[in-house]
Amino acid sequence: MTDNERITIFDTTLRDGEQSPGCSMNLDEKVRLARQLEALGVDVIEAGFPIASEGDFAAVKAVAAVCRSVTVAALCRTTEQDIVRAGEALEQAAHPRIHTFVATSDIHLEHKLRKTRDEVLEMAGRSVRLARSYADEVEFSAEDATRSDRDFLCEVIAAAVSEGASIINIPDTVGYTTPAEYAELIRTVNERINGDAEGTPVATISVHCHNDLGLAVANSLAAVEAGARQVECTINGIGERAGNAALEEIIMTMHVRADRLPYTNRVRTAEIGPTSRLLSEIIGCAVQPNKAIVGRNAFAHEAGIHQHGVINNPLCYEIMTPESVGMPVDRIVLGKHSGRHALSKRYAALGYSLSTIELDAAYHCFTRLADRKKRIYDQDLLALISEWGRERDGTLNHNASEQPWSDLPSCIEEELISRY
Ligand code: KIV
Ligand code: ZN
Repeated sequence: MTDNERITIFDTTLRDGEQSPGCSMNLDEKVRLARQLEALGVDVIEAGFPIASEGDFAAVKAVAAVCRSVTVAALCRTTEQDIVRAGEALEQAAHPRIHTFVATSDIHLEHKLRKTRDEVLEMAGRSVRLARSYADEVEFSAEDATRSDRDFLCEVIAAAVSEGASIINIPDTVGYTTPAEYAELIRTVNERINGDAEGTPVATISVHCHNDLGLAVANSLAAVEAGARQVECTINGIGERAGNAALEEIIMTMHVRADRLPYTNRVRTAEIGPTSRLLSEIIGCAVQPNKAIVGRNAFAHEAGIHQHGVINNPLCYEIMTPESVGMPVDRIVLGKHSGRHALSKRYAALGYSLSTIELDAAYHCFTRLADRKKRIYDQDLLALISEWGRERDGTLNHNASEQPWSDLPSCIEEELISRY
């Protein structure tokens, strides 16, 4: 692998992620999460937008003081006040980065900024020049780049680069682009900035995708294939509106499909689960159960055929292991689609080895219960057989040929159903 295949992972959970409704964090929570992001192995932590509030300023300052092995970035618009505040917040950072942005699409120029293209061009250059007086590393973002006129976008980017921006971000601010279109844009920008010459690029191309059409990860990866070398993303995909590209999906796609995406990064994949859980705990918002990589069901198998395959060899239905991403290894979920095989395995794990006739009886009770209850827990399984009477050594205390327990007494069934 050459340096050119190394992807910088820029985490913006504390900034763009925190901007999503219900995801705000206080200073202590931000520092806790930032430490975990550092342990996860991201390269850049965007810690906040210092001009936005005293709280944001203090959080960026605290993260900059604590996280010494990563770059800490602070966001600002192009005004002097914004840039100075970002610079102050980063004073103690071991590796500071000022991230300045201005919109480049006509719709934003006309309806939000009320500026001409010439004015925006001047703002971009001036802001980077000032930011460079506070930090050696300056990132410039052309907000709403994917809906901007391409020539104007390239003009603004050229101005930012000539003033010393070494990272150029091309955000899909409104989640509008598609993988092929975005790849083409990235290729164009990369060629204009870095030419097609080999060697050290003049500026790193960064991508920042929102998920309004559910394409944030696909767009980011298409951009990497087209030459982008920094990906901006968030844990659990939180962020404005439908969120940002999910870090765990970007990382694991590059990991699992390294044959198609031969790029490297520093992320320790086993820290993905713990980071996801910490974020959920802090913001009080669980991820959807079927969320890729970190959802509760991402490694759960309920269908009998799948369970049988996974018990024999997880590779039958898993493209990565839960251990590799720090997720619980409890693969087998017992529900109405489960088969005898999984039930017998579960009882064995609980310390009970059932004979064929016992398993038949247990399965009969189990399916009746599963028809009425979405998920069957270990306690339910234990309750099912507790009725049968058991010696302390785990063998059943009954005469199997009599099958006295082939139906679960209805009072127990009712109790189990009402329990969870
Ligand atoms: O979505 C966006 O355009 C942004 C920029 C500030 C990078 O978050
Ligand atoms: Zn964004």
